[in-house]
Amino acid sequence: MRFLFLGDIVGKPGYTAVLQHAAPLKKELGLDAIVANAENASDGSGLTPRQFQRLCDAGVDAMTMGDHIYRRKEIMDTLQSSDRIVKPANYPSTAAGHTHCIVDTPAGKLGVVSLLGRVYMRPVDCPFDAIDRVLGEIENKVDSILVDIHAEATSDKQTLGRYLDGRVTAVLGTHTHVPTADTAVLPGGTAFQCDVGMTGPYDSIIGRDIRRVMETTRTFQPTHFYVATRDVRLCGAVIESDSDGKATSIQRFERAVDV
Ligand SMILES: [Fe+2]
Ligand SMILES: [Fe+2]
Repeated sequence: MRFLFLGDIVGKPGYTAVLQHAAPLKKELGLDAIVANAENASDGSGLTPRQFQRLCDAGVDAMTMGDHIYRRKEIMDTLQSSDRIVKPANYPSTAAGHTHCIVDTPAGKLGVVSLLGRVYMRPVDCPFDAIDRVLGEIENKVDSILVDIHAEATSDKQTLGRYLDGRVTAVLGTHTHVPTADTAVLPGGTAFQCDVGMTGPYDSIIGRDIRRVMETTRTFQPTHFYVATRDVRLCGAVIESDSDGKATSIQRFERAVDV
C-alpha cells in the first residue's frame, strides 16, 4: 500500500491547495489513499462540514484533527456520523467523534487513528493506553495502520513512535507545523517522522501573518492572527507498506503550489 499523509491544512491557502491537487497527486504518485490533518482548515482553526465534504470530494480519503477539533461547532454531526474523520482517540469517551476509521483502498484496508500528546498541552487521557485499546479493536480488520501523533514535544512523539514500532505502519507527527528531518523506518518496521509539516503558507509564523504574531507576542495586546497567504506548500510524507502492514519506505513530500 502506498499512501500520502498531509500535515495540518492551514486556512484557505492550504485548503485550496488540497482541493486543487489531491486528485492529480493520487495519479502522479500512484497513491492508494490520501489522509490529511484538517484541524486548521477553517480560517486557521477547526473544520466546517462543507469543507469536510469538499475535501472528501477532492480525493482526501480520511481526516485527522487535533486540539482545534471542536473549534467549529457545526462539525459535531459530521464527527458523529462520518466514517472518514476521527477525533483524538485519547479524548474522553463522552467527546464527540470516533476513535478510528478504516479506509477501503485498492491495496487493502488502512486504519487511521489520531492521538494527542501530553507535554505542554491541555491534559488528556493516556495516549499509550488509548492506542492499545484501539489496536485491540482494529488490528485484525486492517492491512496497514496510520497513527497521527498531534503533539508539541519531539520527545513525546518519539516515545510513542518507539512504543508502536512494529505494531503500526506509520507514526507521523502534526501540530507544530514545521517539517522535521528525521524520516525513518524504525527497526520493527514503523515509519516515523516528528512532524510532516503543515499544508499552508510558509511565509508565516506556523501559518499565521508574521506582523500580527510579532505584535501580539511583543506587546501582549491580543489581536486576530490572520492566516498568511504567501509561499503555499503541500507538505507531508509518502509511506509504502508491505502485505504485513510494515513500512518499507517513508519519503518527505513537499511541493510549492500557486493558489
Ligand atoms: Fe495545527
Ligand atoms: Fe494542533
